[in-house]
Amino acid sequence: MRRKLAAGNWKMNGTTDSLGVVAELADTHPDPSVDVLICPPATLLARAAGHGAIAVGGQDCHAATSGAHTGDISADMLKDAGATYVITGHSERRTDHGETDAEIAAKSQAAYEAGLIAVICIGETLDEREGGTTLTVIDTQLAGSIPETATAANTVIAYEPVWAIGTGKVPTTGQIAEVHAHIRSRLSERFVDGDGMRILYGGSVKASNAAEIFAVPEVDGALVGGASLKAADFSPIISALENA
Ligand code: 13P
Repeated sequence: MRRKLAAGNWKMNGTTDSLGVVAELADTHPDPSVDVLICPPATLLARAAGHGAIAVGGQDCHAATSGAHTGDISADMLKDAGATYVITGHSERRTDHGETDAEIAAKSQAAYEAGLIAVICIGETLDEREGGTTLTVIDTQLAGSIPETATAANTVIAYEPVWAIGTGKVPTTGQIAEVHAHIRSRLSERFVDGDGMRILYGGSVKASNAAEIFAVPEVDGALVGGASLKAADFSPIISALENA
């Protein structure tokens, strides 16, 4: 049985005041029946940690454990700050920083070695969707971004269609079902415990569409951007997942 996961990615949003969101979520969900994760900016990570049942994670890590990499953060440092998860390969990292599948696999491997769970992100662009190559793109990203050492315990896959991120556009439940089923079959073929790896959907998830998305087979939770920035928006998404 896969334990569901409601994950919030704050991206480059949040200052000290935002810590109240984590405290409020911890108060509202003292004993959730699903895992709840907030990935704040690195500046808030240590202070966001330790709030009840709310796990915290990084949004990226370097593949090396330490060294001359100005501005970068290692997986060990995230762990030291209280993180239990780290997002790797988010489409904004792939686009803004030119991250390749091989780099994402190396970062995910670094996460495992630090004892973190990697939330490895994949997803097609609008051009790829319209060109009919979605599943081919997904296959390439799955093959290249997930280390051989991945297990159900150290890896979560997040399917985030790039065209659905921050746009208010959401794939149909049929489109989500097709890609999630495809990812599940690839994970099961490649990993002995691939059936146990959680697969999240991400892209314009909000309280009003969460229940419908969570009812799709093989959707084990969500990676939420904008709607995770306020407790009033994220809390009903957590509740929807608990009730799914
Ligand atoms: P939105 O929920 O704002 O569309 O962002 C999704 C996302 O990129 C989460 O990682």
